[in-house]
Amino acid sequence: MEQIKIKTNHIVSKMGQEPIAQIEKEILAAKEHLLKGDAEGNDFLGWVNLPEEYDKAEYARMKADVARLSAKSKVFVVIGIGGSYLGARMVIEALQSEFASMVRGEKPYVVYAGHTLGEDYYTQLLTLLDHEDYSVAVISKSGTTTEPAVAFRIVKAHLEKKYGKAEASQRIVAITDARKGALHDIAVNEGYPMYVIPDNVGGRFSVLTPVGLLPIAMAGFDTDRLLQGAQDMRRLCIEKNTLAENPAMMYAAVRNILYRNGIKVEMLVSSLPNLRYLAEWWKQLYGESEGKDHKGLLPHSLSITTDLHSMGQYVQDGERLMMETMVHVAKPATHVDVPTDEHNLDGINYLVGKSLTEINDCAMQGTVQAHLEGGVPVVEIDVDRIDEYTLGQIIYFFEFACGVSGYTLGVNPFNQPGVEAYKKNMFHLLGKPGF
Ligand code: PA5
Repeated sequence: MEQIKIKTNHIVSKMGQEPIAQIEKEILAAKEHLLKGDAEGNDFLGWVNLPEEYDKAEYARMKADVARLSAKSKVFVVIGIGGSYLGARMVIEALQSEFASMVRGEKPYVVYAGHTLGEDYYTQLLTLLDHEDYSVAVISKSGTTTEPAVAFRIVKAHLEKKYGKAEASQRIVAITDARKGALHDIAVNEGYPMYVIPDNVGGRFSVLTPVGLLPIAMAGFDTDRLLQGAQDMRRLCIEKNTLAENPAMMYAAVRNILYRNGIKVEMLVSSLPNLRYLAEWWKQLYGESEGKDHKGLLPHSLSITTDLHSMGQYVQDGERLMMETMVHVAKPATHVDVPTDEHNLDGINYLVGKSLTEINDCAMQGTVQAHLEGGVPVVEIDVDRIDEYTLGQIIYFFEFACGVSGYTLGVNPFNQPGVEAYKKNMFHLLGKPGF
């Protein structure tokens, strides 16, 4: 297997081996908690074995539904918020053309709803759906989250008006709890095909359940390869017990060491624009898992070189509170070279014959050097290429490291009590009965 490699040499050369050696036992103990399920949050560890132990019969049924819905849909609406859409969006945006909305392929184009309450967003969505054949996945583990519930009501009404109630119910799939919640009840009542989010898998760890797999398959991507990548990374994460051999343990170690040494913010940095939803997914994963008891690194992100022209000054010279985790992808899927120009009025003939990746890599290396000189610790994560297999590896790598890191930090990485606070106030303001 082509592995994800983690480079911590910059940090080690600054701090020495001592802190790494000191934290190794704690990291191993945190990993044992994940594997033995003997710590707080142990009722949400279903994701640990998910790449091997997913429901194979349900997976086969999902592929049949994907084929059926793909044949009659130009657009696929994914309704969900937080962990109920970010994982799918991360993989789809990493793999599809940046211009997929304008240059459509044969597979349905995935659009999102239920992640926002912007009124104009829904007007614009319905205008699109007036003219496109479409189907819908409505995704909510609790089945009671307001934003996707509102979005589903709006889209369902449009779908039933457009196709009639019987055909509409053939164009909807529900992904939710096996037994309870409003969405579960609606799906049973209306006879929608249903897929289950296992009880022991939390929203932000659910991308390898139908929550992520079904939309990814609808967009035309290979979920078998995604699962294979996750399986191979799982084996590595579980079998290797030293920081030197286990990149997820090393990542968890380094971010905890830096946090203990006063770092407050971690920025996930990539030089590819199609990885921006990797950062969004990662922010939820780490922010919701670790941000509790007034602890935790604040997850933030940067895209290189784009954000060097907006955030570069602060990172280089502002308050020293951040570390960077740079995701470096070695091989692009395609090549574009800089063409020659006999007049050279723009002065860039020195770049002729170089690929954009060579130039981008130099920008990244230059950034690492500059930020290190500016006092920002940098961890590098090297990935050979971006495809379904490596994304499966990346997903499992970050999930496993997150569980280990959260236990090392001393929090329960699998609850999210803080997410409820705004809801109570919103329900009160909206006059929901009981609030
Ligand atoms: O990670 C989580 O549990 C949350 O972010 C949820 O994914 C999010 O709140 C959506 O919840 P639900 O799937 O219940 O609608």
